[in-house]
Amino acid sequence: GAPVEADISKLEPGQMVTYEWRGKPVWIVRRSERNLDDLPSINDRLRDPASEQPQQPEYAQNPQRSIKPEFLVMIGICTHLGCAPSYRPEIAPADLGDDWRGGFFCPCHGSKFDLAGRVYSGVPAPLNLEVPPHMYLSDTRILVG
Ligand code: FES
Repeated sequence: GAPVEADISKLEPGQMVTYEWRGKPVWIVRRSERNLDDLPSINDRLRDPASEQPQQPEYAQNPQRSIKPEFLVMIGICTHLGCAPSYRPEIAPADLGDDWRGGFFCPCHGSKFDLAGRVYSGVPAPLNLEVPPHMYLSDTRILVG
């Protein structure tokens, strides 16, 4: 499939847009300062907090799992059996617990991912959400693929 160009000029902190690339949903999330500050606080609850698993591109092997800290670019497919996780940006919602700091919840079998797409320990999904190949064309445009 052809690469897809994403426009992030209108994305506000906390918002997510979805593009389609090779038949897969690609999510782009603009994280707030607070979101970024919260990421390290849940490292001990995660299976692979440093994204050391080999399927990660080099530029995803940092605490934010991204080229630019604010913007997360990810494939929106659960690494368990391929369901679509939902974006749950709120802090400490009743159904996800006091220590929830925003992220993605897969309704199929309850896998949880944080706002860097890092999988929690003790859920069925084995891997962090996948970061697709991408690059910045400018401050407001990303080329995925
Ligand atoms: Fe997401 Fe099973 S497909 S938890």
